[in-house]
Formats: sequence, C-alpha cells, structure tokens
Amino acid sequence: MEYFQISGGKRLRGTVELSGAKNAALPIMAASILCEGEVTLHGVPDLTDVRTMEKLLNRLGVSTSRESGGTMRLKVEDEMNCHADYELVAQMRAGVCVMGPLLTKRGKSQVSLPGGCAIGDRPINLHLQGLQALGADADLVSGDVLLKAKRLTGTELFLGGPFGSTVTGTANVMMAASLAEGRTIIESAACEPEVADLANFLNACGANITGHGTPRLTVEGVKKLEGCEYTIIPDRIEAGTFIIAGAITNGEVRLRNCRLEHLLAVVDRLRQVGVNVEREGHEVMVSSARRLEPIAVTSQPYPGFPTDLQAQMMALLCLADGNSIITEKIYPDRFMHVGELNRLGARLRKEGPTVIVEGVKRLIGAQVMASDLRASAALVLAGLVAKGETRVNRVYHIDRGYEKFERKLLALGADIERCTADEPD
Ligand code: EPZ
Repeated sequence: MEYFQISGGKRLRGTVELSGAKNAALPIMAASILCEGEVTLHGVPDLTDVRTMEKLLNRLGVSTSRESGGTMRLKVEDEMNCHADYELVAQMRAGVCVMGPLLTKRGKSQVSLPGGCAIGDRPINLHLQGLQALGADADLVSGDVLLKAKRLTGTELFLGGPFGSTVTGTANVMMAASLAEGRTIIESAACEPEVADLANFLNACGANITGHGTPRLTVEGVKKLEGCEYTIIPDRIEAGTFIIAGAITNGEVRLRNCRLEHLLAVVDRLRQVGVNVEREGHEVMVSSARRLEPIAVTSQPYPGFPTDLQAQMMALLCLADGNSIITEKIYPDRFMHVGELNRLGARLRKEGPTVIVEGVKRLIGAQVMASDLRASAALVLAGLVAKGETRVNRVYHIDRGYEKFERKLLALGADIERCTADEPD
C-alpha cells in the first residue's frame, strides 16, 4: 500500500501546470455513448477515476485509446450492452453518468445504485426524478436501477434538492434530453463550469442547448449527435488546491492553465485570509502574508465556495491568527479530515455541519489516514507545513483526482516522497 512521506517546512516556489478537470472529463467521456462516429478529447487527466470510466465504457461497447499528453479517442462499436455493473460503479459514483446517455440512445439503462460514500449520504433520486419526467419507466432490480423508454419526450422540470442543485443529476438529464423529442427546460440546474463544459461539448456534437451555466437550462432535442474534437476545461479544484499549497507554506507559486474566473468565491475568501492571488497574463500568481486572518466559510453550489475545497481551506485556517468557522452546506458530514488534522496538532471542534477552527502557531508531523479524495489533499497540505515528518496513508484516494500530485509538489520544492509499505495499513 502506498503512502506519502513528507518533511515539512519548505516554502513552495515555482510554476505548476494544471491538468484538465476530472469532473468535466468523466461526464464528457460518458457522453460519447450518444455520438455517431469518433470523439477526440484533449486535456483528459491521467487519473484512476478516468481509467475506471474507460473500463466502464469499454464494457458498454465504446472503444477507447489514449495518446500521450491527455488525448483520448472514443468510438461506439456495439450498442448491445446497457448494464453498468456494481463492480465499477461502486468504485466511482460518476459511473452513474452513463444512465442518461444509455437510456436516450439505446432505450434502456441498467445501472448499479451507488452505495455509501465517505463524504456522506449521496442519493440519486433527483437523477431518476428528472429521467422519469422525460418519460422513462423505472424499476429496482437487485440493486440496479432499470430505466426503459422507447423515445424520451421533452418537458419542463425542476431539479432542485434539499442541498440545492445536483451536478451529475443535471448532466444526466441534459444528456438524455439532447436526443429526446421536443424541448426540455431544467429549472434549478447546476451552474458548475463542468456542467457548462459538458453542454459545450454536446453542442459541438450537434446538440441544441442554451442557458448552461445558469439555473435555467433549455435543451431542444435533436435526431442525432456526431463525434467531434474537444478540449476539456482546466481543473478548478486542482487549481484551488495548489493556490492553498502556496499560501499554507507562505510560498510564491505561479499557476499555468488556470481559469481564475471559475474560482472567484475561493479567491474572495483567500484574499480575506491575507493570500494574494493575481492574474498575470494567462497565468496566476499566488503569495501570502505571514499572518493569516481567521474567517467564516460556507460551502455552496457554484458560484459559491466549492465543497471540494472545504478540507484544504480548513488545513490553511488551522494556522490563522484566531478562530474561523467552516460550515458544510452540501455534504453536512464531510469532515473525515477533522480527526486527522487534530492528530497533526490542529484544534478543531465539530458541531453538526459546522467546525470551529481555533488557530494554532504550528502543526506537528504525525502518521495520518486519508479517507477520501479532498480530505487526503488537505492532509498533504498540512504535512507540507507541519514540523517534522508526516506520513499520509492510503494515497490511492489522491490518485483518483490529482494527476502526478507529488511530482508537481516536488517541482515546487516540497520534500515529499511516494513510498510503498510492505504491510497493508
Ligand atoms: C459532484 O458530485 C462532484 N463529482 C463532487 O466532487 C462534488 O462534491 C459535488 O458535485 C458537489 O459539488 C463529480 O462531478 C463527478 P451533487 P455529485 O449531485 O454530482 C444531494 C470530488 O471530490 N443530492 O451535486 O454526486 C447530494 O446528496 C467529488 O471531485 C440529492 O439529494 O453531487 C448532495 O448533498 C466529490 N439527490 C447535494 O445534492 C440527488 O439525486 C449535491 O450533490 C443528487 C444529489
């Protein structure tokens, strides 16, 4: 089992090139099921989640091939199989993104209901609600959701839930509506840049989608979609993680391939903490004051502060000069990192969906356990600044969503090494 060994205290300096967005690449790869002919994608990050999606698509009759530098070619060869089995969907929830494309293109989809998740309760009732509103019949068959429909019909539907909009739910319904009969209006659609990127990809394939990036999305169904060539947007969560890495080490980091306009809520909070984030041409420059200010942060759907940067922000605020308050409004139980950060000498107190962060002078290195993708990134950031040695176990979580994470940090001057433990941790 691999782990990271980190020797803390190095200030990060230099330039990092960001990868394509995981949460755009996965649904766009799934959308290849909708297309006639070949799809060529650029900027596809090399991640275990991308490989899992590739395996899933191969089983669903989509051939895939990769070229170096993030180019992937996908082509539907066989439309017989409509079953996305438990083995792969259990590994990666985004596997549910094949549901809408299979249903609208092949008239049937059988997808394993995703089980539990470390970050909290993650039902797909809104996905099903939206697809049934388009005319699908739904059934539960030994843990799988079985959806059937001859041809879906466009309609007006509301897709908001108790925590606001749903990202992959919007993606699924939008993809299904793209080949449906007539017009679909999705109210309370997710506005995330990854959803807009999927809509732009579908439009490049011949779809007719407008309003993407806003809560009211309109899809005029078309007869067919043709494969195209498309470049995935940069990963704003990876960008936010490296901005915070620069700030927590009091370093000077330059980001390449970064769309700062996708991070305005994050930049706003960081500036309040005392972190300078400036655009310089097509690059972004990060530096920070030695004294970090405490603040209050609440995660919200886009364009609010992203839940996928909550843990990394918590690691930073552990070193602020005073008490901060972090409220998690998307996944109220997304706090697996709290206990681990306290092992590094942080002073965190959880009260329901809120954590009180009492700032400390320093963190002290220790052995910690990663539990999910973003929590593990936060533990690495804390290890970069902690006094002495930190060992982060189960780094396979990180490989799911960060391409060459430790190599990029090494290039910025971090003292980090990927090691292999003989015994399972
Ligand atoms: C996407 O997950 C991202 N994953 C997540 O990133 C991200 O945390 C999340 O959006 C929120 O921004 C991908 O894009 C692959 P949601 P998704 O449906 O689509 C509730 C990462 O670290 N809900 O927008 O699964 C749900 O429980 C991952 O890269 C329902 O109640 O999230 C949650 O509280 C982790 N019913 C809220 O809505 C539904 O049918 C938002 O979930 C669907 C969702």
